[in-house]
Amino acid sequence: MQAALVLLFLVGASLVAVLGDRRLNIAVLNAHNRYRAQHGVPPLTLDSRLNNFAQDWANHLAETDTFSHRPNNPYGENLFWSSVYKQTNQDIALTAVEVWYNESQKYDYNTNDGMEGTYHFTQLIWKSSRKLGVGVAKSSKNIVYVACNYDPIGNVQGQFIENVPRPLN
Ligand SMILES: *[C@@H]1O[C@H](CO)[C@@H](O)[C@H](O)[C@H]1NC(C)=O
Repeated sequence: MQAALVLLFLVGASLVAVLGDRRLNIAVLNAHNRYRAQHGVPPLTLDSRLNNFAQDWANHLAETDTFSHRPNNPYGENLFWSSVYKQTNQDIALTAVEVWYNESQKYDYNTNDGMEGTYHFTQLIWKSSRKLGVGVAKSSKNIVYVACNYDPIGNVQGQFIENVPRPLN
C-alpha cells in the first residue's frame, strides 16, 4: 500500500516535470493576455505542443544549470531565471512576465527594428504571435527557469511599428 502510494506520487511528480503544470500555464497565459489587451492586440492561446517544447527547454536549463536560448529555434522565446526564496514556481513565472513587460518603460514606439533591452517586451506584445508555450523547471540548486515560446515568432526587423502598438491609454 505504502509502496503503491510512493509510486503514485513519483509518477505524479514526473508527469508534472514532463507535461508542466496546467494551472501555472493558464496563469502565465492570462498574465500575457492582460498586457496584450492593454495594447489592443489579440490574446494568445496555449498550445500543448508548444508547452512541451518550452518545458523541454526549461528542463534542459534546470538539468544543466545553464541559461541560454535554444539554438535554431523556429519560435520566439523569452527566458527568465530566479533563485528560489520562498516563492512558488508560479510566483516566479508571473514575476518573469512582469519583468519582461516592464522593459516597455524604456521602449521607443517609433522604432521599426527593435531596441536593445526590450526584446522580451516586444515578443510578449507582438501582435501577429498567436500561440504560447510555457515551461518551468527547478534545478537541484533551487534555481527556477522559465521558458515561453511564441508562434509565429516575433521581433522581426522592419515589423515593430505594426506589431508593437502603444498602450491604449
Ligand atoms: C514593474 O514596474 C512596476 C511599475 O514601475 C513596479 O511597480 C513593479 O515592481 C515592477 N515589477 C518588477 C517585477 O520589477
